[in-house]
Amino acid sequence: MKYAVLATWKMAEEGTKKAARMLAEGKSSAEAIVEGIAMVEDNPDFHSVGYGGRPNAEGRVFFDGGFMNGDTLHFGAIGSLEGFRSAIRIAASLQDSDANNFLVGEGAERYAAAHGFERRDNVTPEAKQLYEQEKERLKELSAYDGHDTVCFLALDQNGTLCAATSTSGLFMKQPGRVGDTPLPGVGYYADSETGAAAATGMGEEIMKGALSYAAVRFLKDGLSAQEAAEKAVSELNDTLIRRNGYANPMSLIVLSRDGTYGIGTNITFTYCYASDREAAAVHEIVVERK
Ligand code: GLY
Repeated sequence: MKYAVLATWKMAEEGTKKAARMLAEGKSSAEAIVEGIAMVEDNPDFHSVGYGGRPNAEGRVFFDGGFMNGDTLHFGAIGSLEGFRSAIRIAASLQDSDANNFLVGEGAERYAAAHGFERRDNVTPEAKQLYEQEKERLKELSAYDGHDTVCFLALDQNGTLCAATSTSGLFMKQPGRVGDTPLPGVGYYADSETGAAAATGMGEEIMKGALSYAAVRFLKDGLSAQEAAEKAVSELNDTLIRRNGYANPMSLIVLSRDGTYGIGTNITFTYCYASDREAAAVHEIVVERK
């Protein structure tokens, strides 16, 4: 394939179309996925990413995001950042230096302000109302209630693979909590010589298996994208069930350097894919939970 883009959840549909158009025009995978994610971040109808994201236990919205370039293996990431428009634009800009690639909290905020990134109060009236309704029953909430990360992987016409992620994280998370989304190797990984992967689901579970790096290693061992995605998720899922009696939700997208893709998931999951051979479409995998 000349180019391909793969993204998590139906919310990525319009962003996938835009990224595919950019890739067709010869733009880089880095540009295409940052624009794809930024579209999701700006849409208040998507309640787990960007504007209108899920509030934490104090009613405030904090972002995690990450970016990786598969040619250089450079990455940039931010964690627990409040008050800016786009987590992914800030994260992606951090790949350019040799150090200080992952900034959190106050340090990330100072960096974003110093580099002129647009500020925004991301707590919408709807998010505020939801917080007021739910805060009384905080202890009853499932950790996974209503959060999903948007992840994009793309291969461009120069053969460069990139990965990008953005989320407001767990609904009602504790202040300072950072999930899998900004962690390279966990929430995302890209190596243009092999493939790229990114994860969505319960961050604390995904961290236990360094899921994205595990899938790229399986590609390196010769597995197809589908085999790598399934093996990474099923191995971690089965290990967690064996050791703890349960496994929380996790889904993984994998894009190989030839543009073929694979999905591993332990829950019903939607994703978007487009390439020079296939128009952008939303697909669903239905999984009965054990
Ligand atoms: N996977 C997103 C999070 O756990 O924050």
